[in-house]
Amino acid sequence: MRIAVIGRGKVGQALGEGWRRAGHDVIYGTREPRGDREAPIAAAMAQADVVALAVPWGAVREVLAAAGDLSGKVMIDCTNPLAMAGGRLGLAPPTGSSGAEEVAALAPGAHVVKTLNQTGAENMADPHRYAAPPVMFAAAGDAEAKSTALGLVADLGFEALDAGPLAKAALLEAFAMLWIDQAFSHGQGRDFAFARLRTR
Ligand SMILES: NC(=O)c1ccc[n+]([C@@H]2O[C@H](COP(=O)([O-])OP(=O)(O)OC[C@H]3O[C@@H](n4cnc5c(N)ncnc54)[C@H](OP(=O)(O)O)[C@@H]3O)[C@@H](O)[C@H]2O)c1
Repeated sequence: MRIAVIGRGKVGQALGEGWRRAGHDVIYGTREPRGDREAPIAAAMAQADVVALAVPWGAVREVLAAAGDLSGKVMIDCTNPLAMAGGRLGLAPPTGSSGAEEVAALAPGAHVVKTLNQTGAENMADPHRYAAPPVMFAAAGDAEAKSTALGLVADLGFEALDAGPLAKAALLEAFAMLWIDQAFSHGQGRDFAFARLRTR
């Protein structure tokens, strides 16, 4: 599958390298493209079936405004819409809404899937280092797009689980906040992941 990873930061590199190892054709969309594996952001998006948005929340509006026609593309939204309020880290969208729904409004025609936002970049780079596969949920309105994204999440080594329609993205962004809070305020560090267990 031809995938454009927008942003070659910690998440972008983890995803891009993982998908390359799984046999996908990855191009990075960056502001200053270097080498033949990077292209300007709009050009990278134009040549891909799947776009993974891996830029800071504050850059999303600017990136999507310059993106061109995204009709029919699967848009994986890895962002977390983080904001400081009253000295505390929280989520920018009002309760009940989500960054993913804002992304969908800014990318008309794209099939937005919220996923790959719920754990640290190190875990995205190597989910196989745990005894059980870490869980990664996906929420989307379009069933085919969600199925494609779930396959790509599984290709990285996660247990990929359907979280329902895009309206459930608020849960996945809150779940990411739990990981962040555990990592930085409750002594877990970045070296842990959530997994699903079942009775024997
Ligand atoms: N880090 C994590 O563990 C983690 C986990 C889950 C989700 N996330 C989410 O994933 C997203 C990326 O996080 P990250 O940690 O990978 O960030 P990062 O390491 O800081 O990388 C961000 C990337 O976005 C690019 N970028 C910044 N501003 C831009 C703009 N205005 N236009 C275009 N590109 C721009 C940067 O390019 P330059 O190098 O040119 O500045 C960089 O390649 C964030 O929304 C974050 O909340 C992060």
